[in-house]
Amino acid sequence: MTTPAGIASILQEHRVFPPPADLASRLGGAVVGSMEDLRAMHRRALDDPEGFWGGLAREHLHWFTPFSKVLEWSCPDARWFVGGTTNACFNCVDRHVEAGHGDEVAILWEGEPVGAGGPEVRRLTYGDLQRETSRLANALASLGVRTGDVVTIYMGMVPEVVIAMLACARLGAAHSVIFGGFSAPAIVDRVNDAGSRVILTCDGAWRRGSVVPLKAHVDEACRSLPEVGQVIVLRRCGNEVSTTAGRDLDWHALVASQPDHRPCVPMDSEATLFLLYTSGSTGKPKGIVHSTAGYGLHVAFTARATFNLRPDRGQVFWCTADVGWITGHSYVVYGILPNRVPCLIYEGAPNFTREDRFWEIVARHRVTHFYTAPTAIRAFMKWGDAHPARHDLSSLMVLGSVGEPINPEAWMWYRERIGGGRCPIVDTFWQTETGGHVITPLPCATPTVPGSCTLPIPGIDAAVVDESGRELPPGRGGLLVIRRPWPGMLRGVRGDRQRFIDTYWSRVPGMYVAGDAARRDERGYFWILGRIDDVINVSGHRLGTAEVESALVAHEAVVEAAVVGMPHEIKGTGIAAFVTLGPGASPSEALKSNLREHVAREIGAIAKPDMIRFTGALPKTRSGKIMRRLLRDVAAGRESAQDVTTLEDFSVLSRLRESEEA
Ligand code: WTA
Repeated sequence: MTTPAGIASILQEHRVFPPPADLASRLGGAVVGSMEDLRAMHRRALDDPEGFWGGLAREHLHWFTPFSKVLEWSCPDARWFVGGTTNACFNCVDRHVEAGHGDEVAILWEGEPVGAGGPEVRRLTYGDLQRETSRLANALASLGVRTGDVVTIYMGMVPEVVIAMLACARLGAAHSVIFGGFSAPAIVDRVNDAGSRVILTCDGAWRRGSVVPLKAHVDEACRSLPEVGQVIVLRRCGNEVSTTAGRDLDWHALVASQPDHRPCVPMDSEATLFLLYTSGSTGKPKGIVHSTAGYGLHVAFTARATFNLRPDRGQVFWCTADVGWITGHSYVVYGILPNRVPCLIYEGAPNFTREDRFWEIVARHRVTHFYTAPTAIRAFMKWGDAHPARHDLSSLMVLGSVGEPINPEAWMWYRERIGGGRCPIVDTFWQTETGGHVITPLPCATPTVPGSCTLPIPGIDAAVVDESGRELPPGRGGLLVIRRPWPGMLRGVRGDRQRFIDTYWSRVPGMYVAGDAARRDERGYFWILGRIDDVINVSGHRLGTAEVESALVAHEAVVEAAVVGMPHEIKGTGIAAFVTLGPGASPSEALKSNLREHVAREIGAIAKPDMIRFTGALPKTRSGKIMRRLLRDVAAGRESAQDVTTLEDFSVLSRLRESEEA
């Protein structure tokens, strides 16, 4: 497993921070107000899961047809809220309009460029969202998109990306959002796998003052995607784009002529709401399938509980994640909107035009909830205390962390410099596959400890077990599992049932295996120790080492490559690549940067190796397996404790150690 910066110190962590006494009243009342309440709720949920989740489903979701049964479970297949029909767009938007809240702000958006009069700010109400999702849904329907189709979305962080997702939901089509940082070949794989015929995109996306040419990436991808019939292009940056007649459509022109009314289609509880591609140990990214009702409930419930969301209390929720990742799906869109708390979306980079941009935004919009990744916090620390200190951050009440283990140094800095010592930190553990939070503190209930994600949310039966499924005593590291089904759980891997079973349900029969190692302490708190597979969390972004390896070997100079994670001060985990060259190529700095660019073209800039080492051969066992743990030690500069007697070529090890670093 890859251990991020500072992980050793968390094992000795004893500082405990109880919830601030006045927090519940400042938040307009606690959703869960004490540890006694939390434990009682958890017990009730495990004693009577159907009563617990059924009650929440009636409270949180609008039902066109009520469900007749809460759960049908035949491991690993779950059907939640059987017989019911609902619609995710209705739960996010129409419900609030019908209840008389149509004029309230749903999305508060700030663009990246800063003009003479400041940045562009847009406010969209629930009424605006109802109108815009209706028009776009009508437009998509006019192009032949039907219930059950998959629409691909490859856009920047503009309000229209949320409108696009919700318009699909309105229509009953599933969406597949591709992160705008991915390159053309990554688009090709995902569009092919999803079978999308329609792509929604932008001319470009603003990033640190320059334009990422999204449409050009789609054009390049479409050369290998003959099935794509329509590309709908939103104008955002005004950059030059080429237009393919008959395929490309202008978003504004298309939508302008559409009626602004279209009812939400009642969807079966289990209908696919979206696919989201994520990395695994092997092969290409897999399309994780999420359901309409179960996922919708899980994220609305956890958003409310974890952040103590309350409407009508002046709360402003800001999650900094891009909607191209699960965090953006769940806590920019589907979890926040149902709770009727305005959601802030910022388009660009945290250090544009200066390193205090985020704090300027917090102060300008009186943000109450701020949710980001440890890698960002470590970058803020490096940029210096002066940046947050210049701004009024007194509106903040709850701070969140997600995506990778947070080291106690970053945790304490976040608490003091951003939270002014008065905001609890909710360190939320979850995954693309879990849909929403599964282990997290609740701000008015759970005493927090730096580096621990604390306790499961009520109803989540998480445990640390050995390979046979036996629960381990406190202090012992083991496999993190979830022993019972939960509403937000993935329903499958698109088109690959065997992979679904093998990846999550085979290692410990009857239990969901998360792919992380964890231990619990005497208090019962969970500590995530890192991935047990060949997945790495680079700046909180999930990548498979196998993907980077296959990108490297696709380069003409490379014969073989092994990629492992290594500790990285800011990214948490950096990417180390060990590369064996073919006879025609020789090691050089130029080749290293060439290989980095090559990986960026194949996958995206996030996958660029931080370190490349050229080696005559890779260390392998007698059966030919690359000795990854040994490479991880070499990459981290650690002496390997591993027995190397199975190494095919002992000299390889010492040569790797000596070889010059990038
Ligand atoms: C890691 C992101 C420690 C973990 C929501 C998990 C975390 C993977 C935390 C999922 C956390 C996420 N503490 N590790 N609070 N949150 N992780 O699918 O390794 O992009 O398995 O979902 O991120 O990454 P994914």
